Amino acid sequence: MKTIVFVCLGNICRSPMAEFVMKNLTDQLIIESRATSSWEHGNPIHRGTQAIFQQYHIPYNSQKTSQQITLETAEQADYIIGMDSQNIADLKKMLPERLHTKIHPFTTHSVPDPWYTGDFEETYRIVKEGCAVWKNRLL
Ligand code: 4NP
Repeated sequence: MKTIVFVCLGNICRSPMAEFVMKNLTDQLIIESRATSSWEHGNPIHRGTQAIFQQYHIPYNSQKTSQQITLETAEQADYIIGMDSQNIADLKKMLPERLHTKIHPFTTHSVPDPWYTGDFEETYRIVKEGCAVWKNRLL
């Protein structure tokens, strides 16, 4: 099975949203999520993202906590998917050049960060569409 890793800045809002939306769409991929930063390390999924999971009946792991991406995780992944253009730029700075072919943007436009916008619904709509596109692309 292919392994994909969704990556955002904090790994508490957007990338865990993508992780569990995608897991709800397929069991034919190994799906993880990580942060570019260590800012939220050990912290749980944002309550706004958890509220989306509950509202739309998306199963998720409420014990999941933020983890920064490591070289090992990047090596094991087939696709490293950044949620916005800054995540892509940061991943390219953090990871050796031989891994750069694995780095892809989630969508052509950056996924808005509800940490700043407060709009988890808007982000969910974009994440849901984007995950459906990725599923078709990979399966
Ligand atoms: P995320 O959102 O990258 O979608 O998880 C953020 C979470 C935390 C921070 C920024 C964005 N922060 O500044 O701590």
